[in-house]
Amino acid sequence: MTKKLIILGAALILAVAACGGDDSDDNGGGGGSDTTVAGGDEATGDAAKGEELFVTCAACHGPAGEGIEGLGKPMPGSAFIAGLSDDELVVFIKEGRGTSDPENTTGVDMPANGGNPALSDQDLLDIVAFIRSLG
Ligand code: HEC
Repeated sequence: MTKKLIILGAALILAVAACGGDDSDDNGGGGGSDTTVAGGDEATGDAAKGEELFVTCAACHGPAGEGIEGLGKPMPGSAFIAGLSDDELVVFIKEGRGTSDPENTTGVDMPANGGNPALSDQDLLDIVAFIRSLG
């Protein structure tokens, strides 16, 4: 009689321990990586810094990104800009869109990095934040 009870008790303890272990593994793993991804998304640029750096781009796109006939395209309301994530826009700006690119729409060169190789990825993210603030 006593022996049976002891075995039953031991089995119960084992079962509870196994369940507890599974639960904490699931929560810890999933929750942890979700938080990391969300943090990455929030790490966007600083629009105020971007406005200062935009002088490079303003030469062709105008000081408020309104575009200059025969030079850069207008930015506010651009479906192309709206359709890209911040990171994708940085990649686009780094590559530019030359006149030999089939995607070129004006026959005018959009130079790689806006023609300013000194701009870092973070500088470009700041510029992207400024462009987004234009509308
Ligand atoms: C030498 C002139 C020039 C400079 C400087 C320049 N751009 Fe451009 N940019 C262009 C031209 C021209 C186009 C349009 C290319 C085409 O025909 O598709 C363009 C297109 C773009 C587009 C795509 C717009 C759209 O709706 O398709 C973005 C975004 C852009 N430029 C960002 C920038 C940024 C950011 C800078 C500064 C770092 C910059 N450009 C500097 C000439 C310039």
